[in-house]
Amino acid sequence: MSASPLRQDGRAQALADLTAGLRRRPPRLPYRLLWDEHNSALYDRIREQPEYYLNRLETRLLQTHAADVIADCRARTLVELGAGTGDKALALLRHMPAPATYLPVDVSAGALDHLNHRLRQRSPHTRVRPVAADFTRPWPAALLDPGQRPLLVTFLGSTLGNLLPPERHDLLALLADSLRPGDGLLLGVPLLGDPALMVSAYQDAAGLMEAFYLHCLRILNRDLGTDFDLDAFAHHVSWAPGGQRVEIGLRALTDQRVTVPGHPDPHRVAFVQGEVLRAAVAIRFTPGRLDDELSAHGFETVRHLPDPSGRYLLLLARLPR
Ligand SMILES: C[S@@+](CC[C@H](N)C(=O)[O-])C[C@H]1O[C@@H](n2cnc3c(N)ncnc32)[C@H](O)[C@@H]1O
Repeated sequence: MSASPLRQDGRAQALADLTAGLRRRPPRLPYRLLWDEHNSALYDRIREQPEYYLNRLETRLLQTHAADVIADCRARTLVELGAGTGDKALALLRHMPAPATYLPVDVSAGALDHLNHRLRQRSPHTRVRPVAADFTRPWPAALLDPGQRPLLVTFLGSTLGNLLPPERHDLLALLADSLRPGDGLLLGVPLLGDPALMVSAYQDAAGLMEAFYLHCLRILNRDLGTDFDLDAFAHHVSWAPGGQRVEIGLRALTDQRVTVPGHPDPHRVAFVQGEVLRAAVAIRFTPGRLDDELSAHGFETVRHLPDPSGRYLLLLARLPR
């Protein structure tokens, strides 16, 4: 079993982030704390559920357009933020001149171990260099000097939509600072559509989403010493029209108090029955506004690659030379 990401990352920082999140109204969990080896494996199964249309659309778009994307950006090195299984990279690596270098970045050390093993078998000519890091923090040396340019950075799996607007702004600023002219950025984002369909993606009949979010509480109890009662919370999904996003969280089934260890201030956080502890947001995008945001950070849009039903978009951008 791999070390937990919380221990690697630093327990003090994780506790500070958790405490700050719980003090907000509504209270929320930091996104990066949701991921350990168990939840990475669970997410692989969630991606295959019939309700989770996002992954199917993105995978199909990648299979259709990978050759054009690589031809456009002439990438020699691929960096994937929040890589998960890394299987989406295979579609792109196939069209890159061998030997290509692939740097999957993830906070889940367990996911990176599996990815490394699988990619070495399925793409033996690729130089795979896993990087266990938080993509919201300044890039470590391994990423700043990753190999031959141009670089293509991919951010797939709708993960951009899991960042709140200020966090998305910070990430784009970090990318603009870390990339060089000519480097590319490929985003996979879900588009705004029918609220009922967008919400249903997070309510699978098999109950895997609920298991994923309840396991987050287990991660916090195990790694940070909280005492969340998993039986006292239930899966909760809603559409927030103001933020154009699905909100996924855990609804308190009773009034309760949860201990959050802290130095020097261990404290108890109160939840009232019906209150929702928000665990993730899943923002929906419109292509024009995303172009504008990218442009504000110095990127130019090279291509929009939408799926024919208008529910998903691959967007290729680059830093102009
Ligand atoms: C929604 S999944 C997408 C996985 C994969 N890209 C796909 O398309 O299936 C998000 C991934 O980002 C990783 N992740 C979440 N927050 C992160 C962070 N702050 N830094 C690095 N990786 C992160 C998770 O461990 C997970 O593998």
